[in-house]
Amino acid sequence: MPTHETTHHAAARARSQASEKSGTGDGEDAATLEELREAARGCRRCPLWRDATQTVFGEGAADARVVFVGEQPGDREDIAGRPFVGPAGEMFDAILAEAGIDRSETYVTNAVKHFKFEPRGKRRIHSKPNVGEIQACRWWLDRELGFVAPKIVVALGATAARALLGKAVPITKMRGQTVAREDGPDIFFTVHPSYLLRIRDAAARSAEREKFLTDLVSIRRHLDR
Ligand code: URA
Repeated sequence: MPTHETTHHAAARARSQASEKSGTGDGEDAATLEELREAARGCRRCPLWRDATQTVFGEGAADARVVFVGEQPGDREDIAGRPFVGPAGEMFDAILAEAGIDRSETYVTNAVKHFKFEPRGKRRIHSKPNVGEIQACRWWLDRELGFVAPKIVVALGATAARALLGKAVPITKMRGQTVAREDGPDIFFTVHPSYLLRIRDAAARSAEREKFLTDLVSIRRHLDR
């Protein structure tokens, strides 16, 4: 008897496989962000598509001035087909609102567009994407950024930072800083919201939450400039 979760999962996968036929998987000829999204449904650039339910492409305002880049979809995002809708997304939305940023005016995406996990019983445990997977998926991220053409891109954590700069970035050192680039949007570095969720000690968690809020407020100010 399938559990509630696997029923959801099977239904989402069936929907995704039906719509995947329209995705070419390369996106070379995509003339718009929507065409790019369609093409990404059939992505086979790395093996992660095999076990994931579907491609989780970015979403939000196509002309957003700020793009947030996470790591990869989690379990909930994989089933929903939308980025940042699970626990990390809820935390992110709440702090974003506190910082005075309207999520609907932003574009939110991930460095890697398929959920990578290890099955453990009935659960699917998040597994970090490797450098090859990040590199393969950069194809989509670079094109998304090209279409949206934001003023600033926010790297949420180390995987996003690596995807954006093409090399390892020490997040603790770079956090809160903006790197201006000649050939693309400025990049701002901060932590990943799921880092906040992992902090057990309430006082430490609340202090880190404040720091994250400060980062988001400074992004809002950067946009106002
Ligand atoms: N974590 C991410 O990095 N991205 C999501 O979409 C969800 C959780």
